[in-house]
Amino acid sequence: MEEKKIIFSGIQPTGVFTLGNYLGAIRNWKNLQNEYNSIFCVVDLHALTVRQVPKDLRHQTYQAYALLLACGIDPEKALVFVQSHVSGHTELSWILNNYTYFGELSRMTQFKVKSQKHEDNINAGLFDYPVLMAADILLYQANLVPIGADQKQHLELARDVADRFNNAYSPTFAVPEGYFGKSGARVKSLQEPTKKMSKSDTNDKGYILLLDSPNVIRKKFRSAVTDSDARVAYDPENKAGIANLMEIYQAITGESLEAIETKFEGQGYGAFKDAVADVVIGELEPIQKRFEELMSDKKGLEAIMKEHAEKASRMAVKTLRKVKKKIGLVQV
Ligand code: TRP
Repeated sequence: MEEKKIIFSGIQPTGVFTLGNYLGAIRNWKNLQNEYNSIFCVVDLHALTVRQVPKDLRHQTYQAYALLLACGIDPEKALVFVQSHVSGHTELSWILNNYTYFGELSRMTQFKVKSQKHEDNINAGLFDYPVLMAADILLYQANLVPIGADQKQHLELARDVADRFNNAYSPTFAVPEGYFGKSGARVKSLQEPTKKMSKSDTNDKGYILLLDSPNVIRKKFRSAVTDSDARVAYDPENKAGIANLMEIYQAITGESLEAIETKFEGQGYGAFKDAVADVVIGELEPIQKRFEELMSDKKGLEAIMKEHAEKASRMAVKTLRKVKKKIGLVQV
């Protein structure tokens, strides 16, 4: 257990996860928990950087937590907790603020994009978001961080801050690396198949949510954008919609793209779309069932949250003690 590398990742509780989150990230996390000391965090404090409706945030936090477990993150194997339950995150974040430059944060692409999107609320939290993320990672001495391409710049910042601190004092933090698993599927929007599938898409037909009913899933696949070629063939350049559906089918069944082409040769897109819907519905059915069970027992869920928050806090405190000592804070 001790020699295993530590892997840390976080996910925001800003709505039901999409099929893209599942095939691209969460499903892989499930496999990582056997190989690594895995830590998964529902980052509710990060969600505060844009205005949330309190009762929705509360509900979505339970939901995100239950979904992680329902997707196969096993609380016996991995540490799964809610960020705000471990006060070390904000504490370390404040300290690290003093080792992060205004210029660095100003260069963050996500900050620029989000400032445009939330023009009326460009708050300090939005600006400081990457420092909280660095604290999440460094607090647990994480070696590996599974992330999507959009978080690379933030991870780079976490590495720089860790190095800066280690050099200023003495080795204190593990310097984390990105973990880009084998082929975490990059699921695209069903309506604009050149863009990533995203729950913030204004057209809800573009994404499949993990809690969508079988009927809704089928409808969304039926209305997925394709082309007029009518051949199930893998050609991401010219047939992005079909390529996306083939990748989804492949990610779930494990069949090769060639095998899928052969299987659906001579069949129309209608039949193929229904087949994709079938495998997705089949994959999500046990997850949805487990999710309902977990959500019907909030007390049970809270007990797991609490136990894991306590374990996480113990790890966090160790790092914080070291940090405080090195920078000259008095501890009694
Ligand atoms: N910023 C990440 C995102 O929006 C979520 C996140 C917060 C995270 N803290 C993290 C991811 C630490 C990896 C490690 O996707």
